[in-house]
Amino acid sequence: MNILILGGGGREHALGWKLKQSKNVNNIYFSPGNGGTSSVGVNIEIDISDEKSLLSTIKQQNIDFVVIGPDDYLANGLTNLLEEKGIKVFGPTKEASEIEWSKSFAKQFMIEEGIPTAEFKDFSDFKEAQQYLEQSRFPIVIKADGLALGKGVVIAKNINEAQKALQEMMLEKVHGIAGNKVVIEEYLEGKEISAHAFCDGENIIMFPPAQDHKPIYDNDKGPNTGGMGTVASLPWVTKSLMKEIENTIVLPTIKGLKKRGRIFKGILFPGIMVTKSGPRVIEFNARFGDPETQSYMRILKTDLLDILLACSDGGLSKTEIEWEDEFACCIVLASAGYPKGSQKGVLINGMDNNVPKNIEIFHAGTKMDGGKLLTNGSRVLNVTAVGSDLKKSINEAYKAISSINFDGMQYRKDIGNKSL
Ligand code: AMP
Ligand code: GLY
Repeated sequence: MNILILGGGGREHALGWKLKQSKNVNNIYFSPGNGGTSSVGVNIEIDISDEKSLLSTIKQQNIDFVVIGPDDYLANGLTNLLEEKGIKVFGPTKEASEIEWSKSFAKQFMIEEGIPTAEFKDFSDFKEAQQYLEQSRFPIVIKADGLALGKGVVIAKNINEAQKALQEMMLEKVHGIAGNKVVIEEYLEGKEISAHAFCDGENIIMFPPAQDHKPIYDNDKGPNTGGMGTVASLPWVTKSLMKEIENTIVLPTIKGLKKRGRIFKGILFPGIMVTKSGPRVIEFNARFGDPETQSYMRILKTDLLDILLACSDGGLSKTEIEWEDEFACCIVLASAGYPKGSQKGVLINGMDNNVPKNIEIFHAGTKMDGGKLLTNGSRVLNVTAVGSDLKKSINEAYKAISSINFDGMQYRKDIGNKSL
């Protein structure tokens, strides 16, 4: 099969790297891809908003299967379009992925289905939201309703921080139209995990648990990013906790969506807080996590193409999925200024050094320019390692980073520590 992977992050590089190992994969195309994906396949420019050019590229390159990475393509109905044209695609429809692209839809859905989550209220009116904050307890969580690159959430410690966040989202529109509506919710205390499940509309198969690190600085200080590093699996998460997440969160979600005519095929990725009273949903994503995928692909044993096709075609009940008996760690190297803005075009050094066999480096914001590898903003590289225990995988990943550098490079020094 010829595959087209849409997106240009570390997630897409990792998916392509894994698909390349599949016995039934012929050519892999990435759009837009990045400076690393061109070593796995071919980067091509497609204007996704131009339906004609997208469909003609798919035809010209004999693409058999389109794998969608980012959430906004799903929210814009790309799966619907491709399915209408008879093109095989991995990723849920616009209607099914509303569970990610509208936080108020997701919250209402969880209440109706009895899925455990934080108490909340949503507001389209700034004044009403402001008044609500005046009689709230702190900390409290304020979320832009729409998609905001993982940055639309503020945990406000007091009324001043809360009012500022509200003003920025609803009046100054720092996240654009995503802030037309806000969700204000109860602050949940506990340990956070990323759960992922392969879904074929009817059946689901859970991944092992992973943990992301959202804030930019060590000890979870500073503003939230798209994710600064992950580990998978997690030694402290028991089989029975994963079963509870499957039975009280993932299965009721897939069933509830089906009941509403929103058949969910793809990856359901609930962000979960494990609280004293059990697991509760922080948010739903309708796609592979980034950088969770970079860790996951290092320990997935089964042929990825077989699984993705089973999700799209409805054959998951007949599919066995195996994971290596190992742990993986991914550390993100980000550009100067991230997540507020970010520097681009900086030379990356140390990538020609002999990379140990145990290390895979997935690119995100990189580009090749006249044979030189340059940064292209935001998160730049994902250094991944595997080990027979979590500590080993973390140590190996940090060891590999010591030979890589670019001006302004920032990374967290504590990835995985909370799970040791
Ligand atoms: P989200 O974009 O919804 O995943 O939120 C980003 C981050 O904010 C999450 O990964 C959590 O660390 C934190 N967060 C979101 N909602 C809550 C909540 N209700 N209680 C505590 N922390 C939260
Ligand atoms: N790593 C979190 C996300 O992909 O949303």
